[in-house]
Amino acid sequence: MKIDGRPFRTIWVNPNDPRIIQIIDQRFLPHKLVIEDLRTVDEMARAIKEMHLRGAPLVGVAAAFGIYLAAIHAPEGDTFDSYVMEAAGKLISTRPTAVNLKWGVEKQLTALGVSSDLSFPRKRESRDLDPRLRGGDSKGAKIQIALETAKRLADEDVEMCKSIGRHGLKLLAEIQKKKNGRRVNILTHCNAGWLACIDWGTATSAIYQAFDQGMDVRVWVDETRPRNQGAGLTAWEFGKHGVPHTVIVDNAAGHIMQKGEVDIVIVGTDRTTAAGDVANKIGTYTKALAARDNGIPFYAAVPSSSIDWNIQNGKDIPIEERDQDEVRYVQGLSDGTVKKVLVVPEHSKAANYAFDVTPRRLVTGLITERGIAQASEEGLLNLFPENRETI
Ligand code: MRU
Repeated sequence: MKIDGRPFRTIWVNPNDPRIIQIIDQRFLPHKLVIEDLRTVDEMARAIKEMHLRGAPLVGVAAAFGIYLAAIHAPEGDTFDSYVMEAAGKLISTRPTAVNLKWGVEKQLTALGVSSDLSFPRKRESRDLDPRLRGGDSKGAKIQIALETAKRLADEDVEMCKSIGRHGLKLLAEIQKKKNGRRVNILTHCNAGWLACIDWGTATSAIYQAFDQGMDVRVWVDETRPRNQGAGLTAWEFGKHGVPHTVIVDNAAGHIMQKGEVDIVIVGTDRTTAAGDVANKIGTYTKALAARDNGIPFYAAVPSSSIDWNIQNGKDIPIEERDQDEVRYVQGLSDGTVKKVLVVPEHSKAANYAFDVTPRRLVTGLITERGIAQASEEGLLNLFPENRETI
């Protein structure tokens, strides 16, 4: 998408030095656009953990770039694989809920033919290996393969998001038709926009496409405490693109649904189980409950990179708990400076659950890159039959 007329992605290879990965450091948005250079896997792991970048699809691709950085710094010869495996462990342990981290790392390990005693990378037959890796151990070839793989995953994410948007657009068009062309009101939670992906976003892709086609849309943007990804990131994105939007406090969603001012809820996901339970930013579940009570369709936008085919029950999804100070303090702009202020009594403790699980019974459908699936094992397998044997 564009920032002040200039096309941007969220992560890219420095055009002047391919050993440097560049990202938008999202901690400073919406107040400052800061670009950060990442040179090592440790810097990438820190950027993911401390949320310089965030959003499930983006952390998956960032992890793949992290393996590329590890390959650059890995020793040549026999210890290359163990160095890369250690890097894989570091990246995967940064955040527990988004399954995309594991997905991005696994794609890299498979491409590099690196085997491990972790369960996810399967050692490939030598005939499956990239010809550049057969019969040789050239570190240069491995670095090149890791770079190409990370870039390919980034490009594929863009295509997935565009495609999710095309399917979601049909839902918005149906609503508009039912309303005789009147404005379509969408509610979204957190940031499942282009800043959470490489471009376009998942939940926002249909909205951008509808807006670009001239549809009258308005988005209710949940502020999304504690880190305010809705207020700070989603609102910023929509503002830059010109999409009409209104920020609401998290607790307002039920009220505006009761007033008939929400036609559809579309959220993202950090991990959706094979049976259709949806883990997403804390507060998503209560939006789904309110939507159900008010007869409003509730959809999750789910790229296949966010589906965990090894888990059926959402209760088995690990839920990240973050530092209590993210709740105790709020960040904002004051006198031109980004500051944090304490919003609770000095000695009050806080609990900071980052995600929750919306059970499939509350989910109207899952918007994937291959179409809209029922939130059920059969629904997902109909679109992704190649996973029948994994389950
Ligand atoms: O903690 P965050 O900001 O990484 O959480 C992000 C979300 O919950 C998004 O909704 C989810 O990753 C989907 S992004 C397309």
